Formats: sequence, C-alpha cells, structure tokens
Amino acid sequence: MAASFLSILLSGSTLLSAVRAQDFTGGGGRDEDAFSYVQPLDTVILTEYGSSPPVYPSPNITGVGGWEDALEKAKAFVAQLTIEEKADMVTGQAGPCVGNIVSIPRLGFSGLCLQDGPLAIRVADYASVFSAGVSAGATWDKDIMYERGLAMGQEFKAKGAHVVLGPVAGPLGRSAYAGRNWEGFSSDPYLSGIAMEETITGHQDAGVQACAKHWIGNEQETQRNPTYDTNITTTELVNAVSSNIDDRTIHELYMWPFANAVKAKAASVMCSYQRINGSHSCQNSKGQNGLLKTELGFQGYVVSDWGGTHSGVSAIEAGLDMNMPGGLGPCQRSRDVRGNHGTLIRKHGAAGSVLLKNENGALPLQAPKNIAVFGNDASDPTQSSVLNQVDFEYGTLASGGGSGTGQFSYLITPLRAIQDRATQDGGLVHYWLNNTLIANSNVSDLLIPRQVPDVCIVMLKTWAQEAEDRAHLSVDHNGNDVVEAVAAACNNTVVVTHSSGVNTLPWSDHPNVTAILAAHYPGQESGNSLVDVLYGDVNPSGHLPYTIALNGTDYNAPPTTAVNTTGFDDWQSWFDEKLEIDYRYFDAYNISVRYEFGFGLSYTTFGISDLQSSPIESNVTSFPEELPIEPGGNPALWAPIYNVSVCVSNTGDVAGAAVPQLYVGLPSSAPAGTPIRQLRGFEKVYLEQGESQTVGFELMRRDLSYWDVVSQQWLIPEGEFTIWVGFSSRDLKVQDSFTVVG
Ligand SMILES: *[C@@H]1O[C@H](CO)[C@@H](O)[C@H](O)[C@H]1NC(C)=O
Ligand SMILES: *[C@@H]1O[C@H](CO)[C@@H](O)[C@H](O)[C@H]1NC(C)=O
Ligand SMILES: *[C@@H]1O[C@H](CO)[C@@H](O)[C@H](O)[C@H]1NC(C)=O
Ligand SMILES: *[C@@H]1O[C@H](CO)[C@@H](O)[C@H](O)[C@H]1NC(C)=O
Ligand SMILES: *[C@@H]1O[C@H](CO)[C@@H](O)[C@H](O)[C@H]1NC(C)=O
Ligand SMILES: *[C@@H]1O[C@H](CO)[C@@H](O)[C@H](O)[C@H]1NC(C)=O
Ligand SMILES: *[C@@H]1O[C@H](CO)[C@@H](O)[C@H](O)[C@H]1NC(C)=O
Ligand SMILES: *[C@@H]1O[C@H](CO)[C@@H](O)[C@H](O)[C@H]1NC(C)=O
Ligand SMILES: *[C@@H]1O[C@H](CO)[C@@H](O)[C@H](O)[C@H]1NC(C)=O
Ligand SMILES: *[C@@H]1O[C@H](CO)[C@@H](O)[C@H](O)[C@H]1NC(C)=O
Ligand SMILES: *[C@@H]1O[C@H](CO)[C@@H](O)[C@H](O)[C@H]1NC(C)=O
Ligand SMILES: *[C@@H]1O[C@H](CO)[C@@H](O)[C@H](O)[C@H]1NC(C)=O
Repeated sequence: MAASFLSILLSGSTLLSAVRAQDFTGGGGRDEDAFSYVQPLDTVILTEYGSSPPVYPSPNITGVGGWEDALEKAKAFVAQLTIEEKADMVTGQAGPCVGNIVSIPRLGFSGLCLQDGPLAIRVADYASVFSAGVSAGATWDKDIMYERGLAMGQEFKAKGAHVVLGPVAGPLGRSAYAGRNWEGFSSDPYLSGIAMEETITGHQDAGVQACAKHWIGNEQETQRNPTYDTNITTTELVNAVSSNIDDRTIHELYMWPFANAVKAKAASVMCSYQRINGSHSCQNSKGQNGLLKTELGFQGYVVSDWGGTHSGVSAIEAGLDMNMPGGLGPCQRSRDVRGNHGTLIRKHGAAGSVLLKNENGALPLQAPKNIAVFGNDASDPTQSSVLNQVDFEYGTLASGGGSGTGQFSYLITPLRAIQDRATQDGGLVHYWLNNTLIANSNVSDLLIPRQVPDVCIVMLKTWAQEAEDRAHLSVDHNGNDVVEAVAAACNNTVVVTHSSGVNTLPWSDHPNVTAILAAHYPGQESGNSLVDVLYGDVNPSGHLPYTIALNGTDYNAPPTTAVNTTGFDDWQSWFDEKLEIDYRYFDAYNISVRYEFGFGLSYTTFGISDLQSSPIESNVTSFPEELPIEPGGNPALWAPIYNVSVCVSNTGDVAGAAVPQLYVGLPSSAPAGTPIRQLRGFEKVYLEQGESQTVGFELMRRDLSYWDVVSQQWLIPEGEFTIWVGFSSRDLKVQDSFTVVG
C-alpha cells in the first residue's frame, strides 16, 4: 500500500494551514469571483455557459475504497509535521526529477519523485520507449493495455520514481487537430476509460503511483496557458483559453474515462492548463471539489500541471493539493531498467497497427525479392538518436514530441528491419529517402533494375507535439505526392504511416495502392513491429480508435485559433457540438467517411452470429440506488445489469484476433442530442482457423444511462434500447432490442 499511503499523505484540507503559511505564486480571490468575462451577445448559448458554480468547502478524504488504514497512518504522520514541513509536502522544489517533494529524514520520509510521462520515463537513460497511447488504444486489447502499464511502471519504479505522470484521458480527442491526442488512447470515452483503468492498474501494481491527466477539458494546445508580458513575466496579457462545456457533455464525454481512472484508484490526478467555464482548471472548485472529489469520490491528490497554478489559497480551497514544479536539478543516475521490455514493445507496436486496405493479396508479403522503400520515415533520424522531440525531416517517427515523448536508448528503423528480413530471403532492397526528390520524379526512371519492383513500400510520417495543435490532417513532407509518384510506377504500392492519429488519405482508392497500414507511434521496436505485420508473423488486429474522414474539412470542433482581438478574456472555446465528436458526429449527420471508428482488417476473416441478450436484474429502476460514494462514484453505476453474448468465428485461412464491438442506442425517450450509437463493450478474441467462441459483454448501469442535468443523476431511459455487435462502428453484424426499466 505504499503508493496509496503517499497519496493520503498529500491529500486533504489538513494541509491547508500549511499552504496559507507559504508564499505561493500569486494571490487573488476565488476564481469564480475573479472571472468577469462578458459573453458575446450573439451566442445562442448565452444562458448555458460562461461561469463555473462555486463548490466549497473541499471535501475531506475518508479512505473509502480500501485506503482506510493508509488514511490513519497518514493522519498520524501529518500530526508530526511542522508547519514548514507541511508546506514542503505540497509544493515542488528543485531536484533530480521532473517534480520533487523533498524528503523529511527525521521521519524517514524519503520524498517524492514525479516523472514524465505516458509512454516512457522520459528524463532517463537505459530506459525503454513504449508505444504511444494512441497505439495502445488501437490494440483494443485489455491485456496489452495492462501489460504495457505494468512494464512501464516497473521501469519508473526501478529508476526510483514514485509517480508516473500519466496516463492521459485529456485531451480525449474532441478535435482531430489537437496536438496531444496521441498521448491518450481514443476519442471514444468508453475505449479511453478501459485503457485508463488497465494502464493505471498496471502502473500501481508495479508499485508506483499513476497520475491521470489532464483534468479536464484540455482539448487544445493553442493558448492553453496565458500570454505573459515578456518583460514582466508575472503579468498576464491574455488569459488562457476557456473550454466552455455543458454539464451533460462533461459527464458523458470528458469525465467518463476519468471515472474509470478514479475507480482504478489512481493515486493522483493532474489538473490542466486551460480554463473550464472561465475558471482556471487548477482552481475550479466545481471541477475539483464538486465533480472529482465529491461525485467521483476521488481519494488521492490533485497536482497542478507544471505552472498551471494561478493562485495560492484559493486554488487549495478549490481542491488543488500539490503545486508543481519548483525547478530542475541534476539528472538521473544510470541504471538499466529495460529488462525484456523490448520484446513486449515489439508485440505492442504490431498490435497497435491498423490494416486499412489490403487488395490483390498484397499482404502479408511472400518473400519478395525486389523491394523498393520510399520516404523520409524509413530510416534513421539524421539529427539525433537520443531525443525524439524535434520535427526533423529525415528519420522515422516512433513517438510524438513534448513531455509525453521518450528518450530512445535504441531505435529499430523500418529500413533496417526490412533489410534484415529481405536478406534472409535472398532479396534486394533499394531505397529513396528524399520526399522532395521522389515527389518530383518519374519514379520509373529511378528504379534499378528498370522493372516494377515486387513491392514498393512507402513510409510516411505525421508529427504532433505538446504545445502546438496540428495545422492540417495530411501526412507531412509532401507525403501525398510521394504516394502518387510511387503508385504511378508501381502496381504493388504498400503505404505505411507513422502518425499521431488522424490522417486524411486522399489516395486510398488508387488502384496501385494495394495496402495501407496505420502504424501509429510504435515505440523503440518500430521496424521490427512493422516487419512482423508486413510478413505475417503477426496477423494485424488493430482497429481505429478514431475516425478517418474523407476530408480534413469534414471534422467538426476545430481548436479555437483565429482569435484576432487582444482582450484579456477573448480566448473562448465553445463546446457547442456537445456529444457529437468523432463517430458520434459523423453518424448523426450521415456523413460518409474513409475509414470509420473501430475499423481494421486482418489476414483472415471473421463472422458474428447468434446475438443473445438477457437481463441480470429484473427490477431495474431508472434512478440508481443512492449508495455511499466510492472511488469511481456511485457503485450502483458500475453494477452489471444486462448480459449480451455473440458467437464470433474465424471464417478465413489463418489464425487471428477479432475485435467484436458492442454499440448501444438509447431509447427515443432519452434527451435530444443523444448519439445514435455509442461504444459500450469490446473484447479481443484470438481464434484459430475455423474456430468459434462465445463472447460475453456485461453492460453496467452507466453503459445504459445518460446524465440528467436536472436530477444530477445517471438515468436509464424508458423504452426500447438497440444494441449492435460488429467489427466497427459502421460494420454492424447483428442487432437486438430490449427494454430495461419497468
Ligand atoms: C459549466 O457550465 C455549465 C452551464 O452553466 C454548468 O452546467 C456546468 O456545471 C459548468 N461546469 C463547470 C465544471 O464549471
Ligand atoms: C475536514 O477535517 C477537518 C479536520 O478534522 C475539519 O476541520 C473540517 O471541517 C473538515 N472539512 C469538511 C468539509 O468536512
Ligand atoms: C519589453 O521591453 C522592451 C525594451 O524595453 C520594449 O521594447 C518592449 O516593447 C517591451 N515589451 C512589452 C510587451 O511591453
Ligand atoms: C532532396 O531533393 C531535393 C530535390 O532534388 C534537393 O533539392 C534537396 O537538396 C535534397 N535534400 C537532401 C538532404 O539531399
Ligand atoms: C516515366 O518514365 C517511363 C520510363 O522512362 C516512361 O515510359 C513514362 O512515360 C514516364 N512517365 C511520365 C509521366 O513521364
Ligand atoms: C500502376 O502501376 C503500373 C506499373 O506497375 C503502371 O503501368 C500503371 O500506369 C499504374 N496505374 C496507375 C493508375 O497509375
Ligand atoms: C503488377 O504487374 C505485374 C506485371 O504486369 C504482375 O505480374 C503483377 O501481378 C502485378 N501485381 C499486382 C499486385 O497487381
Ligand atoms: C476538401 O474540402 C475542401 C473544402 O470543401 C475542398 O476545397 C477540397 O478540395 C477537399 N479536398 C478533397 C481531397 O476532397
Ligand atoms: C481572424 O483573422 C483571420 C485572418 O484575417 C480571419 O480569417 C478570421 O476569420 C478572423 N477570426 C475571427 C474570429 O474573427
Ligand atoms: C441519416 O440516415 C438515417 C437512415 O437512413 C435517417 O433516418 C436519418 O434521418 C438521416 N439523418 C440525417 C441527419 O440526414
Ligand atoms: C452474465 O455474463 C457473465 C459472463 O459474461 C456471467 O458470468 C454471468 O453469470 C451472466 N449473468 C447472468 C444473469 O446471466
Ligand atoms: C431487485 O430485487 C431483488 C430481490 O427483491 C433485490 O435483492 C435487489 O436489490 C433489487 N435490485 C434493485 C436494483 O432494486
């Protein structure tokens, strides 16, 4: 219980007096009072948003959910602290880690080391770089999500870190353009929620604390922080963007995966940079005291994003427990903590690759002799092998940039892995890495021998990073032109993308583009993960954790960018689309897409039949029973109330893993704006050729409810539910309907 002990130690209003005694970063009253933004009169949502209701006082933790003993220990410990020591417990100081809480030797407390980030222990050598969140989301594999979380946690632990600054459920992925979406798992809250739960359980089973971030509404990078006067760096010229989110939307989309995180007993939660309904996230009492600590029963501590605290006492009163950073000191000792994790990362990278197209038997490759590789994503980064944090032109991308990146101790490039494999087959590999050159060439003239290769592999990349939203959804470096140039000369063009997520793929119907593989950000074994899939050692089973639209302009909810005025409070981001993000939006308006949410091919084929559904409870009420709050909220919401099962069969020629996905459509009595269907179950099922298996889904109360803004409860609507099970959000194989209430 070491992790939770420390979390208790840092939590609760017993420390408020300590904070009052400390000279904090600023002053000011409660943020609700300070907030004086005047809404534009022409907005129709005038009465709906614009302020954050005050929720005080900050609730005390009770230890509920298995931390009762730890709470007693923590109280006894805190009772021995001097006022200065208490102050030290709640704010960072310079030290060896990204965040440091100093030790108190006289009490045997060795301090706390907080380290980035969501795919690696970043500020460290001899550590592994794991697949990114988006890759883990694309596996749709709960076992892999846990295994990745555990292995990563073991490395943090072995490096002496106490807190992993991850995983990420905010950004969720409201906008396809947001710069940090790849750090998280999916724009679907259900998939993201499962991934949060598995990752956090993995981290904490390894003996380190997880820090679920960024609470909440952190859906864009642009103007996430205030603009400061360059001369007087404490003076804010323009305030941070405000995410203005209505109550139903914040519950059903943005809070949803954090509820899973709290249920998984995450020791800490990081509040975000931007404002929510006008109030800074780290001093938003409705968000921290109300939603997180009261409604979700969070028992751990809230830590600010680095520099995200804008007041002292009022932030603490609004629910903040720890202020970060404090300053960086000398770096880590060298200790090799990688173990056998390279093997896992190779597997995870392959499992997070999504096969989008495969025609004319293009894949798996059958020992091709003449292989041509194109594109600047194929080979070694030319600028640096250690830091993968710059958007360089030449070199493969296995991670995005910012605090969520990792420092590679080695990186297997696609070109190296393809060459190793091809030489085993007695083949030859020619390559062209200069995108400008390829895009402007008649590729037929480049080829030596002057014949069409057995396969042309085009390696494309798409950069994304913290602190910057994406300017477009295309692949980078003229990648589209590279594909066109190669496909004009090669009737077996296989395109691979290493990408933060959404890419419009305008050439996807080109007859010579025979296969497309979205390989995301696979981590340090990138090339090996890729070759395993290309050559069929691994049958691809990844599915898209987001939708690929036909055109970048098809996506709604872009980040707020073009604010041309200079008023202090002019950066307002209105979440007017409400629940309609990603597939919920495309489905609501019947918009055709290129590859829908949940889509992914395999080298075999699967069938689904025999949908069965049966109630677990016969006397279900619309209102949940009001049970005492536990971490995750009202336990009644997590109780299984309906069972669904299907039979999944491997109908093709090779073994492989299917991902049956269950979608729920709420009855028409649910309030307006309810999405047509929403993911509420999935499993990854490995099947030998010809094998069939029954797959069960237990629907919990929350899965069949909507958030009722009037009663402030999750309610099950009356009337007929529709459920579908299929292999994507638009490939629905079987359906059924039933009523739950009454
Ligand atoms: C945001 O504003 C909406 C509409 O006024 C309100 O219902 C909701 O509780 C607010 N949420 C937060 C976190 O302030
Ligand atoms: C929290 O506990 C302290 C110390 O026992 C007490 O003074 C305070 O009133 C409690 N706060 C709440 C909200 O119950
Ligand atoms: C900062 O100081 C410089 C030099 O005095 C001045 O030119 C500049 O305008 C100042 N910037 C702002 C934002 O006031
Ligand atoms: C890439 O090719 C273009 C066009 O031929 C050329 O101008 C450029 O110098 C090349 N870049 C490198 C790094 O060789
Ligand atoms: C490209 O080169 C090939 C071989 O030299 C030639 O047959 C073809 O016409 C050229 N294509 C274009 C568009 O110039
Ligand atoms: C497809 O590739 C072949 C060469 O293998 C080429 O002759 C043909 O023109 C290409 N088709 C298109 C549509 O570019
Ligand atoms: C490409 O063209 C060659 C020569 O015409 C043919 O043998 C081969 O089957 C074609 N490959 C594909 C994938 O269509
Ligand atoms: C995408 O949409 C924009 C705006 O409607 C249009 O100008 C552009 O041609 C479209 N692109 C494609 C590839 O269809
Ligand atoms: C800001 O200016 C740009 C360029 O002039 C314009 O396209 C955009 O619409 C303006 N944005 C707003 C919110 O007025
Ligand atoms: C979408 O299609 C469905 C089924 O064809 C239809 O019932 C619905 O009205 C359409 N919605 C819109 C917004 O066009
Ligand atoms: C519901 O399904 C689970 C496993 O999928 C099973 O353990 C449980 O017995 C089922 N409950 C009922 C009432 O059928
Ligand atoms: C349903 O009825 C059973 C038996 O009377 C009872 O034990 C159970 O608590 C009830 N469930 C709900 C959700 O009311």
